[in-house]
Amino acid sequence: MPSKVSCLYVLTVVCWASALWYLSISRPTSSYVSQLSVPARKTAKAHKSNVTTTFGNIRTRPLNPHAFDFIINEPKKCETNVPFLVILITTTHKEFDARQAIRETWGDESTFSDLRIITLFLLGRSTDAVLNQMVEQESEIFHDIVVEDFIDSYHNLTLKTLMGMRWVATFCNQAKYVMKTDSDIFVNMDNLVYKLLKPATKPRRRYF
Ligand SMILES: *[C@@H]1O[C@H](CO)[C@@H](O)[C@H](O)[C@H]1NC(C)=O
Ligand SMILES: *[C@@H]1O[C@H](CO)[C@@H](O)[C@H](O)[C@H]1NC(C)=O
Repeated sequence: MPSKVSCLYVLTVVCWASALWYLSISRPTSSYVSQLSVPARKTAKAHKSNVTTTFGNIRTRPLNPHAFDFIINEPKKCETNVPFLVILITTTHKEFDARQAIRETWGDESTFSDLRIITLFLLGRSTDAVLNQMVEQESEIFHDIVVEDFIDSYHNLTLKTLMGMRWVATFCNQAKYVMKTDSDIFVNMDNLVYKLLKPATKPRRRYF
């Protein structure tokens, strides 16, 4: 009998300990947020308040706070003239030739004299300092590169896409259309612009 009682006692203690441990870890967002730099923390907090949902007593964490800073940015590219089309191209540091080929062919911003097109290359941060410097120099020449502070890798491609969406939402939210593509793609711009998007007609809303 006494052994059964002490067994129950041990179980109760274990139960309480688990509950306390659960409570101490059940606010991961605030501890995560507090690790970030101040601007990033603000973004994450603002994002959290919009995204966090409550199911009964369970608050879910934001799926992707995306609290990365821009290392290279072109914040004024859209300022004076609302573009008809923004082309976002995911690319990696070593693809200098591919970027140049795109600039000189389908991605040429001056292809259409009557339509403003913006071409931007999206990158993360390379682990190789020399490559980062080369991209910085390239950006100073062409002003068509945006880099955010996450490690550039295949598994982080999603972050690159989110970064592009964030850039448009923040710096170019008046753009009529946005297209995201890769650097190993050739886009038939005449087809895209005149057959699919039809600049003469009113821009379609919720058109995908
Ligand atoms: C969150 O919502 C508020 C109000 O609706 C808005 O002003 C703010 O920009 C939103 N924040 C983000 C990160 O979307
Ligand atoms: C993705 O980027 C984050 C932020 O820089 C980094 O911590 C993580 O290791 C990267 N993931 C991969 C698979 O490279």
